[in-house]
Amino acid sequence: MSDARWSVLAIGRFPDEVKADFRDAFDCAFLDAVPPGGVNGPLGEREVLIMSFGTELRAGAIRALPASLKVIGTYSVGYEHIDVAAAKARGLPVLNTPDVLTDAVAEVGMLLMLGAARRATESIDLIRGRHWPGWNATQLIGVELLGKNLGILGMGRIGRGVARRARAFGMEVHYHNRSRLSPELEDGATYHADFADMATLTDMLLLAAQSSGATRHYLDDGRIARLKPGAIVCNVARGDLIDDDALIAALKDGRVRAAGLDVFENEPKLDPRYFDLPNVFMLPHIGSSTIETRRRMARSLIDGLLALKAGGKAANRVV
Ligand code: DGY
Repeated sequence: MSDARWSVLAIGRFPDEVKADFRDAFDCAFLDAVPPGGVNGPLGEREVLIMSFGTELRAGAIRALPASLKVIGTYSVGYEHIDVAAAKARGLPVLNTPDVLTDAVAEVGMLLMLGAARRATESIDLIRGRHWPGWNATQLIGVELLGKNLGILGMGRIGRGVARRARAFGMEVHYHNRSRLSPELEDGATYHADFADMATLTDMLLLAAQSSGATRHYLDDGRIARLKPGAIVCNVARGDLIDDDALIAALKDGRVRAAGLDVFENEPKLDPRYFDLPNVFMLPHIGSSTIETRRRMARSLIDGLLALKAGGKAANRVV
């Protein structure tokens, strides 16, 4: 291995602190977006390409990448925007940023649950719209998290992060996962091998599962019908887990009381019908948007890249 620092092209928008972290570790150039002619021109002979969530790198583009490229890194935990099978076929390692987003996203999970349960959209509209007539006992009555059953779909790191926090709010935690967790990871949560069994007792459903072809529109009409009437639905994972037609119909007729959504199918062009629903508390995919997490994401990529450069293993290697 040569002692020279790796030369990196990072595509996406990064906070200044993150740019400084990358520059400290590498000879790093930045581009806000992929140029119309593709990445190969600006990439030149650089050894590392860092992409971000939302910037696609499909099989054809991966096959055409310069031979000098040694590693692809994605500044995100999700890597569905990169064809990792094509990268593997070319012998190109792909690194991501797992673990370090967990707490920030779990905090937004709580924000979504509270915002949906306590009618944050209507409350904010009322006060910011300068229409608030003053306190009265019938105004904007919501429901509490205390004593409610939380059903988590996908009990990975983020699901467990929300479960920990939800327990402190007095919620009882249930989960549905491909497989049951160890008692230590389960931490008192109740496992349901069937989604329908969990759904019937769920007051608050939190989607925290990874998205894949198989999970597209997982929460459809049939599964919504299994939820306790008036349940709340929250999503911190990926928008395509939800069939928007089904959720919007249920939000309109009250089968679902409210929704808290940080992610949407076809971001940023979300289904415009959501804007007309006062019982939807929406955020623009800010789950991991804290400066602490952004810097930890950079650290994760830097550590993985330096480990590979030194001939070692990267803990955050996807393929
Ligand atoms: C991720 O990292 O996958 C997030 O959803 C984008 O911050």
